Amino acid sequence: MKEPLIEIRDLRVYFRTIYGDARSTDGVSLKIFENEVFGIAGESGCGKSTLVEGVLRLMKPPGYIKSGEVIYKGKNLFELTEEEFNKIRWKEIAYIPQGSMNSLNPVLKVEEQMIDAILSHTDTSKEEAKQIALEALDSVGLPEDVINMYPHELSGGMRQRVCIAMSTCLKPKIIFGDEPVTALDVVMQKLNLQTIMHLKEKIGLTVVMVAHDMAWHAEVCDRMAIMYAGKVVETGPVEEIFLNPLHPYTEGLLNAVPSLKRKFAKSIPGIAPSPLNWPPGCRFHPRCYRKMNICENEEPELKLIDSERYVACHLYNGGNWK
Ligand SMILES: Nc1ncnc2c1ncn2[C@@H]1O[C@H](COP(=O)(O)OP(=O)(O)OP(=O)(O)O)[C@@H](O)[C@H]1O
Ligand SMILES: [Mg+2]
Repeated sequence: MKEPLIEIRDLRVYFRTIYGDARSTDGVSLKIFENEVFGIAGESGCGKSTLVEGVLRLMKPPGYIKSGEVIYKGKNLFELTEEEFNKIRWKEIAYIPQGSMNSLNPVLKVEEQMIDAILSHTDTSKEEAKQIALEALDSVGLPEDVINMYPHELSGGMRQRVCIAMSTCLKPKIIFGDEPVTALDVVMQKLNLQTIMHLKEKIGLTVVMVAHDMAWHAEVCDRMAIMYAGKVVETGPVEEIFLNPLHPYTEGLLNAVPSLKRKFAKSIPGIAPSPLNWPPGCRFHPRCYRKMNICENEEPELKLIDSERYVACHLYNGGNWK
């Protein structure tokens, strides 16, 4: 059987609050294979960013990793020291944070920010670091003189490209992009998405992309996971999920996408629950139009339906997670 490049096993990332733990990412298992583009979708607050920050061990208090493993090159990343993890983070496993284009330091020129970042993760000289920065800017389609500019001198789309260049300049194996192309006009979104896909081919990147917009998943992802209430409810090849969604929540998400055929897209009834108090049984049952008695009490496991599709829903009885 094919070995995953990175495997997330039963990852739980919680936040300590005065009301108890917010169980934001609550038992996620995923396998990501080399060279694929893997999408993660789900409503706001379902734990997508928490999942990615957990994998990269970037949680800040009150967030913490409750349990789970992330296996990369045969090692559990959670067992590495911070120093050991730092050698892998960015060099091999890169990250574009949500809202990245606003994460640049407004008082430093692009050159200083990129060089600082490169020097803190490598043993290269300042001259070499500048060369790496220039090559990275070129590979995202930005002209050389951008290196001498301050963030406020760049458009939002350009700032986003600088962030993509910074994240990929050390030619990582895998990149986790958290909404890497949002908050821009659609033309710029598309251009920046194409930039990431171009880098994927150029440096052999594996891409994990968190995005609300199902259109991006349809366009570039090979496989995807749908998250709801801190868990994965369905995963499989994108085409199959779009053509034949199994979980009623996936169906709801797809029906919520506007199209010319449906003048008014259907929304999913009710609101997403709080991670302080997930509903018992299937967490989606209070909003599910196919709810059965069992759904109120028994939490469905993620089960194998056919060769590559998994779904956590009592409507289906498949094999176990492998
Ligand atoms: N510092 C915090 N303290 C308490 N709860 C938090 C904290 N940060 C996040 N959460 C909770 O964790 C849950 C998941 O948040 P997360 O940012 O992972 O969602 P998301 O799926 O990325 O949403 P979006 O699509 O809006 O980016 C949210 O319900 C949020 O309230
Ligand atoms: Mg998020």
